[in-house]
Amino acid sequence: MVTITVDGKELKVKDDVMLIEELLANSISIPHFCYHPALGKDGNCRMCMVEIKGQKRPQIACDTPIKDGMVISTKSDSIQEVKRSILELELINHPVDCSVCDQSGECSLQNYYMDVGLYESRLSTTKVHSRKKVDLGANVVLDQERCVLCTRCVRFTKEITKTRELGILNRTDHSVIATFEDQPLTDPYAMNVVDLCPVGALTSKDFRFNKRVWFLEPEESICNRCAKACSIYVDHHKAKYEADAIFRYRPRFNPKVNGYFICDVGRLSYKIENENRLSVALINNEQNNYDETSKELKSLLAKHKSKILFLISPSLSLEEMLMIKKLEKFYDAQISGYDVNEYDKDFGDDYLKCNDLSTNRRGLNLLNIDENENILKEALSGSEIVVFIGRDDIEILDNYKNIQSQICISSSTPKNPQSYNIYLPVLTHTSKEGSYINIDGYLQFSKAKVLSQNDTKNLIEVASELLDEKVLSCEQIYKDELSKMVDNITFNEIKIQSRKLSSI
Ligand code: FES
Repeated sequence: MVTITVDGKELKVKDDVMLIEELLANSISIPHFCYHPALGKDGNCRMCMVEIKGQKRPQIACDTPIKDGMVISTKSDSIQEVKRSILELELINHPVDCSVCDQSGECSLQNYYMDVGLYESRLSTTKVHSRKKVDLGANVVLDQERCVLCTRCVRFTKEITKTRELGILNRTDHSVIATFEDQPLTDPYAMNVVDLCPVGALTSKDFRFNKRVWFLEPEESICNRCAKACSIYVDHHKAKYEADAIFRYRPRFNPKVNGYFICDVGRLSYKIENENRLSVALINNEQNNYDETSKELKSLLAKHKSKILFLISPSLSLEEMLMIKKLEKFYDAQISGYDVNEYDKDFGDDYLKCNDLSTNRRGLNLLNIDENENILKEALSGSEIVVFIGRDDIEILDNYKNIQSQICISSSTPKNPQSYNIYLPVLTHTSKEGSYINIDGYLQFSKAKVLSQNDTKNLIEVASELLDEKVLSCEQIYKDELSKMVDNITFNEIKIQSRKLSSI
């Protein structure tokens, strides 16, 4: 560590990194377009200029190594003038169409301009116009007029996915981002370029014009598309007279899980959360009061005590699994986490996607919940009631005539609700809290609280009622019963780096 002075304040910083990294780490505002922590420096935008005592000219912080004793100014009048001039240059051909731009509200160019812009245009010539809507493929749409040519998107396809699909064509003020020979973007991580774009040039076809970003509330959660369980933000909004709806998933930086990125399939899986939600409880396919259905379930379980099998999804949270284990004990039942539907041999790659589609199989293993197929078959032969929890694969019962009642407790509507004697809806993963251990053994706590559209309870409440127990919060359950177990397992420390995608 060395000492530097920034705007009159002394800071202890690392000496083996570029200045911009430590400035940002210390929450010092330093405008930048081309630098990104996942891609490093490129030095093309010049927005990160700072004054360093002893240097004749301003220097770019993204390419200046830190030295002990440096005295830096980020806000002097001359630096503000430099930034103003660079912004004036960036905006010469920019359409300044913020009012209809999807990036408005989270646009670096807009923010910097509001901080140090010139406000009064001195331009008397006509702007150079470019194409406003170029479909690059993979849900990515380019507005060439808004682009500041920072090359983050180009470097993403070069350094992270190694697919090299994007480049810059032409020269001077005719330079544009493009795919070579107009080939569409095809790599499974392409939509990350939309997050990387610091301005409104690259937008998502899926999200554009759907919602102004300042209405969105971000919640910290995890993606439940596969066992990687990437850290995400769930951006949702409840408009007056409308249901709370999710508008997009965005990657949430987590160096131990997904770095700065997520795959496109996971990103678009938010749609599943908005759809296919049956909000009413059913008994023999007839709509029923939620609490009465829960009571009916309770008496059915009591009647068939010791002849019950709980078939649970390996994507339930640790707290939910623990509650089902308690139910297993209470009703002298059996429990299985075997689920063939949670694998897809064609899904995974060597970056963030896994063939295992369950978000908490490591949790299942931690709680010693069996997932052996033969043991499941044995349990099915000796059961009268099967309770599917968080899953809907009733076909598994095809050859078991001994099963008298099938029950489903799930957040998604079963494919054939009429096949179940009782169906009880519960909250989906974006409406509840819970802990999950991903495929690499990394524990994450998800706390998204998107409002449910009805009185649906969470699985922990349902289980507590079946156990005649007080309902505890997830946090309490974790603290009382899970924290010791989790502390005893060894988590792998993994590092996400750019790597080759063999699947491409
Ligand atoms: S961020 Fe330093 S030159 Fe672009």
